[in-house]
Amino acid sequence: MKRTVFLFRAGKNQYRLAVISTEVRTTGNSYRVLIGPGLLETIGDAIKEKLAPSRCAIISDTNVAPLFAEQMQKSLASAGFEPALITVPAGEHSKTLEQAGAVAEEMLRAGLDRQSFVIGLGGGVVGDLSGFVAAIFQRGVSHVQIPTTLLAMVDSSIGGKTGANTATGKNLIGVFHQPILVIDDVEVLKTLPSRELSQGFAEIIKHAVIADAEMFAQLNPKTASDALALQQLIKRNVEIKSSIVAKDERDRTGERALLNFGHTIGHAIERAGDYKTLLHGEAVSLGMVAACDVSMKKAGLPEKQGDAIVDLLQKFELPTKLPPNFPRQKIFDALKFDKKFERGEIRFVVTSKIGSANLSRGVAMDDIRAAVEVL
Ligand SMILES: NC(=O)c1ccc[n+]([C@@H]2O[C@H](COP(=O)([O-])OP(=O)(O)OC[C@H]3O[C@@H](n4cnc5c(N)ncnc54)[C@H](O)[C@@H]3O)[C@@H](O)[C@H]2O)c1
Ligand SMILES: [Zn+2]
Repeated sequence: MKRTVFLFRAGKNQYRLAVISTEVRTTGNSYRVLIGPGLLETIGDAIKEKLAPSRCAIISDTNVAPLFAEQMQKSLASAGFEPALITVPAGEHSKTLEQAGAVAEEMLRAGLDRQSFVIGLGGGVVGDLSGFVAAIFQRGVSHVQIPTTLLAMVDSSIGGKTGANTATGKNLIGVFHQPILVIDDVEVLKTLPSRELSQGFAEIIKHAVIADAEMFAQLNPKTASDALALQQLIKRNVEIKSSIVAKDERDRTGERALLNFGHTIGHAIERAGDYKTLLHGEAVSLGMVAACDVSMKKAGLPEKQGDAIVDLLQKFELPTKLPPNFPRQKIFDALKFDKKFERGEIRFVVTSKIGSANLSRGVAMDDIRAAVEVL
């Protein structure tokens, strides 16, 4: 399939973009998110502003480490740090308690102690795993997030949720552990496969639908080929996610749950496809199409706006129909595993207008079933 989501390429005479940043506030603390090109080259200096020279672990995966770890190790060493690189196999199956334990053992063997810290260099899998290890190693050490996928930059690196999957389901074990610094080097996205880039846009479209009508109107696949626009877009999305998280850091009041727009059905689709058929963002794209259908019926979302959301997903080459022969029944079986189904009561995120969202308790399983039927 011809793909139209291209990432920017630096022309010969293209000037270097300035680094921009935003501050994420947490209970009693805050951390900075730096966004710009070439940040990996100077990572040692950036971290030195926050942490005293010490041993640290760079946790990465087998795809990302060969691309960026050497450059980072050099920069860290020249700033006085002693980095130990720990590489886990790329993919979701590395996000387990066993892998976290093995990484912690390797850190101990490498001589890391209470003064050490952990850097996660990779996508959301490495971010969640390394954050979890940082939270439990010596009862908690500092965590620096270096996200290398668009999804991780705009979503998983922000908000402090860390954890692992279990045989029963995804993300069922974990802790809240906020990073002390997040560094988004936009140049690392140049090596990201286009399907991975598109799934990052699924979360960006989600943010637009639930919180930012203006961003929704401006979103365009061309953004991905314009370095400045992409940098600004990442910043805006970090701001949206962090402002929602700030209202409900521990996911208790329902405010943070708005970030689950498209995810109730999306997670069930992911699970029904055994996490192989569709990427997370692709399943969320389908989940958002279904959530729009529910929103039109139950929350007064105008049909035109529902259609505009589906159109935008298609523009970013995200699926809006289930693949042929997809086991639909398995989607319903999977829904009961969702953490959002509390005491059998469904808390479903709906939008009544692009740029806003709310939790509805008035959505029945039949509404969800009907929405999945049209996918
Ligand atoms: N903590 C949170 O709040 C939160 C939020 C959303 C998602 N997540 C988690 O994030 C994970 C998904 O993250 P993801 O989509 O980034 O997946 P991922 O970490 O598996 O990365 C996707 C693939 O891209 C490769 N890759 C990463 N960066 C690359 C680069 N620059 N160039 C080339 N290849 C690269 C990886 O090796 C992997 O094969 C899931 O485990 C999900 O549960 C967590
Ligand atoms: Zn998601």
